[in-house]
Amino acid sequence: MIKMNLQFSDGLKNMKPSEIRELLKYASKKDFISFSGGMPNPLTFPMDEIRQIIDEVMRDYGSLALQYGNTGGLNELREEISKMVLETEGIKTTMEGTIVTSGSQQGLYELAKVMLNPGDTVITEEPTYVGAISAFDANKAEMHSIKIDDEGMDTHAAEEEIKRLISAGRKPKFIYLIPTFQNPTGITMSLERRKHITEISSRYSIPIVEDNPYGELRYSGQKIPSLKSLDHEDSVIYMGTFSKVMCPGFRLGYTIAPVDYVNRANLLKQALDLSSSTFSQYVAWLYLKKGIMKTMIPKAVSLYRKKRDAMFKALEESFPEGSKWSRPDGGMFIWATLDRRINTSDLLKESVEAGVAYVSGNSFSPSRSQGSSMRLNFTFAEEKKIFEGMERLGNLVEKKLSILESP
Ligand SMILES: Cc1ncc(COP(=O)(O)O)c(C=O)c1O
Repeated sequence: MIKMNLQFSDGLKNMKPSEIRELLKYASKKDFISFSGGMPNPLTFPMDEIRQIIDEVMRDYGSLALQYGNTGGLNELREEISKMVLETEGIKTTMEGTIVTSGSQQGLYELAKVMLNPGDTVITEEPTYVGAISAFDANKAEMHSIKIDDEGMDTHAAEEEIKRLISAGRKPKFIYLIPTFQNPTGITMSLERRKHITEISSRYSIPIVEDNPYGELRYSGQKIPSLKSLDHEDSVIYMGTFSKVMCPGFRLGYTIAPVDYVNRANLLKQALDLSSSTFSQYVAWLYLKKGIMKTMIPKAVSLYRKKRDAMFKALEESFPEGSKWSRPDGGMFIWATLDRRINTSDLLKESVEAGVAYVSGNSFSPSRSQGSSMRLNFTFAEEKKIFEGMERLGNLVEKKLSILESP
């Protein structure tokens, strides 16, 4: 048979395969410990409640739930989402300003497609969420990433970069932020910086995109107002998800945005998947309406708090001097930075061979400047495994350092 040569588009040229996926073939070992995924712990899945809801959906709404649905999402669910975000994040919205997406990952892809022309600039945090990098890359955006510290994005540096881009005729299309328990660092942006970035957004007329999958998973410290609740100009596009506070398997997220954005995103969604799963939406609607979300979150919080504290302790015990790590008040990740002579991408293969995985820093870095850092997920592994895995990793880093230091 003569094989046809497929002529692919240029669209995916910039995209790189995930390095951890490539290495997962080593991960079949029995005692392999992974700190790499962003997966919720299945112990938090309310199995019985969901089973009962599924029965109810089939009994009372079966002919609707198995049918095609509205592109923008099930009206009843959109109403429950509006009530929920008012209560949890002080966000005032309506059903018309809320769209359901197939995970917030689809929301990010829609964002890129709705807002960006090839070569457009966007401002992101440095480091930032790898899935956002993929969505922006797939739409050929140019990312200008701004360093974050313990208080989140350095907003003064962001303003300088924005001024520079504007004077070069390349005004950014939006500022993408994960201000609460950021992925990958776990860092939360301070209120002062939140106010400052809102002022900058208003001064230069650049919308903010607030991606908030982890906001409800707080283990310590005080809640800080969302950017969307500080927004008086309808200039914040807000994204949320059911993945971390219900389960990711239903693939449901939502975007709250100005109505003209919503209209365009819905046009695009007709080309993507017509609508998110009607069945999943009925389940999520009843899950919210019956208040199950509210009872489930505190359980997840108390499980994850213990795991976070275990990882803090394991880092103290096992990581060599000269290593640093973030101290997140919530979310799913700790960001560790090693001696700068160690490259975490190079170390990953050895680490996987030693039976432990993380995601290396540069996967999250539009500027490829996070070579000595790694993202560690603490929500998935059992506590005992957290200590074991961190010991393996610590030993490996010690070994590397002693080789580097030997004359
Ligand atoms: C910051 C951020 N945004 C979006 C997503 C996508 O989540 P989902 O598509 O499951 O809603 C994730 C998932 O890890 C994330 O961390």
